[in-house]
Amino acid sequence: MSLTLGIETSCDDTAVAVLSGTRTVVAELLSSQIKDHSRFGGVVPEFAARKHQENLLPLIDEVLRLAGTTGPQLSLIAVTQGPGLMGSLIVGVQTARALAQVWGVPLIGVNHLEGHLFAPLVDSDLKPPFLSLIVSGGHTEILKVKDFGDYSLLGETRDDAAGEAYDKAARVLGLPYPGGPQIDRLARTGNPKAFDFPVPLKHTHEVEFSFSGLKTALLWQVKRLQKGDSSLPIPDLCASFQRAVTDALVTKVALAVRQTGIRNLSVSGGVAANSALRAALTQPGERRWKAYLPAPNRCTDNAVMIAAAGRNCWDRGVWSPQDLSPDPSLPLNAD
Ligand code: KG4
Ligand code: ZN
Repeated sequence: MSLTLGIETSCDDTAVAVLSGTRTVVAELLSSQIKDHSRFGGVVPEFAARKHQENLLPLIDEVLRLAGTTGPQLSLIAVTQGPGLMGSLIVGVQTARALAQVWGVPLIGVNHLEGHLFAPLVDSDLKPPFLSLIVSGGHTEILKVKDFGDYSLLGETRDDAAGEAYDKAARVLGLPYPGGPQIDRLARTGNPKAFDFPVPLKHTHEVEFSFSGLKTALLWQVKRLQKGDSSLPIPDLCASFQRAVTDALVTKVALAVRQTGIRNLSVSGGVAANSALRAALTQPGERRWKAYLPAPNRCTDNAVMIAAAGRNCWDRGVWSPQDLSPDPSLPLNAD
């Protein structure tokens, strides 16, 4: 049995997992800091790093115990190298380096985006070539996965990421951080056609996104409504905003499918947990692609995806030196 320990600390979740081979999850644990940060309205980097420091070693102890193994029995340690918050990344990478050395286990630094890309692959037999829509708090892009480790960037956002747009919209509506799950929940009882928000870049012939104008449109709508006497129709605003974001994402997926002729699509990142996006991408009927979506808890940051991506790199003969260092703006190697 070849076991990989995955460690993810790029932002505000401390996550660890033990993966057997390439797809069997033996144990996984996650300590979320959402409650700690939501009172500040967003992630406080210094605080996130301190929490990782408190949580990481006990979580690693516990996940190894749950997996019925010990450190020296591992075949590989995979840790998020970047992109992410520097203080948070340092905790993960330094811990992984120390453990790799003490246990005599090889180490691999994983690009967080490549990690997201692998999330749908743990539960499916999807193989390249395929398209990958990554929609998170920091990124919104469509990649062509020609082979594992061989990516082309078809297009990305010009400004805000989709998750960032959800978080900013939630702030406009007075909802707590992180905004995506709040808007998703409230939209269920709202009318998505109540407000006609613009669908950004709907008619351009490029695979590209832009969400900052949509957030501004929401802000102006809220200001107009606040001039009246009645309270804000929050569920309708959430549902209408969500409809516009979903439409923008699905429109460009359709364009990427048309341009490349590739019909298999993997979807990952926190916004892939959004119920409207999941429904729109998987609804039977005229859709010209097959979407592979991870379970909602594997859309947001987790260590299973880091272990899976690390293991795949290792199997391709890629690994990292023992003095691996974190890189907050680590690019994904894509042409
Ligand atoms: O992938 P992730 O956990 O962290 C990053 O790498 O950024 O994504 C977090 C983002 C946040 O912006 C959060 O609001 C958004 O994903 N998100 C959602 C949902 N769940 C998380 N957005 C829309 N609907 C959701 N259900
Ligand atoms: Zn992420």
